[in-house]
Formats: sequence, C-alpha cells, structure tokens
Amino acid sequence: MSKLIAIDGPAGVGKSSVGKALAKKFEINFFSTGEMYRCLAWKVLEQGIDPQDEKAVLEIAQKVKWTYQAQDNVLKVYIDGICPLDKIHNEEVGRAASKVSAIPAARILIMDEQKKLAHLGNIVLEGRDIGTQIAPFSKVKIYLTASAKARADRRVKQLKEAGQNPVYEEILASIISRDERDSNRKIAPLKPAEDALIIDTSDLTLEEVINKVLEVATKNVW
Ligand code: DC
Repeated sequence: MSKLIAIDGPAGVGKSSVGKALAKKFEINFFSTGEMYRCLAWKVLEQGIDPQDEKAVLEIAQKVKWTYQAQDNVLKVYIDGICPLDKIHNEEVGRAASKVSAIPAARILIMDEQKKLAHLGNIVLEGRDIGTQIAPFSKVKIYLTASAKARADRRVKQLKEAGQNPVYEEILASIISRDERDSNRKIAPLKPAEDALIIDTSDLTLEEVINKVLEVATKNVW
C-alpha cells in the first residue's frame, strides 16, 4: 500500500525534522515543498527581478524545468538541473519565497508539480497547503503549530549552533511577518485541513512529536 503523509504548519515549527524522521521510519522519501518556492525565488533574485513583479516571476516559473533525485530518504529538487540547497536556506531567499508563493499563476504551476508527487505516493510531503490542496486525499494529515516565541527561540539556537550571531527581535519579527503573509494570501493560505491532527509543539521535544505522529499513522492507517 502506498504511503502518504501530509505535514503542514508555519515556518520554524519543526516540520522538516519530524518529516525526515517519519520518512526514514517508513522507508519512503521526505520532500520539502517550500524548497520549490525557495528555488524559484533564488532564480528570480539571481536575475535581479523583484519577487513581487508578478509578470516577470510568472515568466520564469513557466520556463523552469523541475527534476528530483532521492538520497537517504530525502527527495531533492533540481531547478533547471541545479540543486541550489546551500543557497536557498537563508532569510533573504525565505522572504522572497513567501512573496513568489503568493503570486497565483506562478503558484498554480508549482502546485501542479507537487500534486504529481502526491499521486505517486510513498512520500512525506511537508509544506503549508499539503492537507488542504496538494494531497487532500492523504489519510495521515498532521498540522504542527507552536507559538512565534518558541519558534524564534529554536531558530536563534540553530543559527548560533551554525556559528552565526542572530538578533532575537529580528528573527521574531521575521517569523511573525512570514506567518501573516502565508496565512492571509488569497490562494492556498496556511491553515489546517479539517481532518488534520493538530499538534502544538511549543513544549514538546522532537521525539515526543514524532511518537505522537507515529501512533496515529500506524494505528489508523498502516
Ligand atoms: O517551508 P519554507 O520556509 O521553506 O517555505 C518557504 C516559503 O514558501 C514560505 O514562506 C511559504 C511558501 N510555501 C508555500 O506557500 N506553500 C508550501 N506548500 C510551502 C512553502
């Protein structure tokens, strides 16, 4: 039986860590749908285009070719043959990704790509609209949430561990403004599916979250 897990929630809530652990456990692939918006945003910025210039962003979105490669239970995305993972996980590209993802026509093209992955199955899809738009037929839908403060604390810790010197107030403000944009856009806004299991991770360890999800997935579905 093909396995499909949908994980949604705001930025910095631990979706990737949880999703990767689940993919390993079930021997399927993890895919971060946000990386596609980040790749598109990266390409847009590289070409000196404003990420809010709808016409120019759409032109790029129509031209790019998406391909994928699995490695260690993670499906990596390639934009025009390049996998720019080391260049897309920063605040600048994150902000631009949030902007390009709110452009309806560009978004639809990326959503169509992601729907194909959902239909192929045997995948953990992580994003903002997986349970509601990309894979509403998924039997396991998880919505992770946590206070903006808890997420900012985690992000600051991560950045410090990576040798950076983050300013807490700036990180918190960026999380709040990204939540605001992702939740209020007209197309596919961030929200839990009606039948999603909502887990507040503010006071839970990664292990505790993973165990909760595993319980639901194994008991109810597989
Ligand atoms: O998950 P992430 O931080 O890598 O996502 C980057 C941006 O992409 C996020 O601000 C909103 C957008 N996004 C989206 O609109 N829908 C998704 N399924 C995933 C991400």
